[in-house]
Amino acid sequence: MKIVLVLYSAGSHAIDEPMLLGTTENELGLRKWIESQGHELVTTSDKDGEDSELDRQIVDADIVITTPFHPGYITRERIAKAKNLKLCVTAGVGSDHVDLAAANERKIGVLEVTGSNVQSVAEHVVMTMLVLVRNFVPAHEQIVAGEWDVAAVAKDSYDIEGKVIATVGVGRIGTRVLQRLAPFNPKELLYYDYQPLDPQLEKEIGARRVESLEEMLAQADIVTINAPLHESTRGLFNKELISKMKRGAWLVNTARGAICVDQDVADAIASGQLRGYGGDVWYPQPAPKDHPWRTMRNKYGAGNAMTPHISGTSLDAQVRYANGVKNILESYFSGKNDYRPEDIIVIDGDYATKAYGQRTKK
Ligand code: NAI
Repeated sequence: MKIVLVLYSAGSHAIDEPMLLGTTENELGLRKWIESQGHELVTTSDKDGEDSELDRQIVDADIVITTPFHPGYITRERIAKAKNLKLCVTAGVGSDHVDLAAANERKIGVLEVTGSNVQSVAEHVVMTMLVLVRNFVPAHEQIVAGEWDVAAVAKDSYDIEGKVIATVGVGRIGTRVLQRLAPFNPKELLYYDYQPLDPQLEKEIGARRVESLEEMLAQADIVTINAPLHESTRGLFNKELISKMKRGAWLVNTARGAICVDQDVADAIASGQLRGYGGDVWYPQPAPKDHPWRTMRNKYGAGNAMTPHISGTSLDAQVRYANGVKNILESYFSGKNDYRPEDIIVIDGDYATKAYGQRTKK
């Protein structure tokens, strides 16, 4: 079997840190094992533009593996070219880089390593809220620049305590975010999801479900997005929905960039409708140099807590998703296909559940 692995390159960092498993240099630690099973492994970071290495290699690939951090976009066109393709594996969580409808038409399985980095993302979400609300970035930049101007930072710096915080999506990450925020003594923790939390867990966290998204957004000082990218979340946070948010709210999105409309977010920061926006997900990835989220600032010259897509790829997470990919491949190579049910996104021409994004929680 031919397996194509699409990862970012570690470049010079490979020398510093052999634990960077999700890179072309370290290949999820899987080369020896894959070859020992009698399979061929081709690894590349070249995935975009015309005639990329991915385009050349996918033609006779049986399996494509990629991370969401440097996603090989498995489009309908690429699926049409990939005559042997049977399995797409996501080394991480979130398989929206695969055209799932096209995969189903060809009965290509799409699996991911569910849960592998949810704690990493939840930590990043809480960090991003703190960074935005406390106005950390301009404070730090000031120090590095040799300056000292407390008022310049304090005039846009607040506390998380006493704020209304809301999550769109309360799955593995959303739940962990709420659990981590509860000790900050927020005024309220709200959530919007088709699937309510288990009542016992809801009580433990002290969260309240709001049945209308708009109603929730109108009450929240801080909003975090923790739902997958699918048909009903693509472009969800556009000018109109952002206008329903409380004026001056902060928005944190570590789910997927395409859930928000790039320019509408940047405009909302400029106008003060949003006080700040932070997260690590973009579309496409890598983000273009002139992407408006790189440079957007509010009227205080603050309100931007963007990073490259790093939240789910801590070294601890890399070990977990590398192991998870190995388990999926083992199930596939053995012919048993005895995958963990929660890892299956689509299989045998159908979604594992009624719709992507409505999966069972754990
Ligand atoms: P999960 O499947 O455990 O939870 C997702 C929740 O979103 C479910 O409860 C589902 O009912 C809900 N949902 C779906 N559509 C919704 C909608 N329109 N409105 C409100 N709720 C909706 O998934 P998990 O593990 O919590 O991950 C969520 C997403 O976070 C992933 O799909 C992925 O896109 C993103 N992610 C980002 C990472 C990063 O490194 N930045 C790493 C891991 C995940």
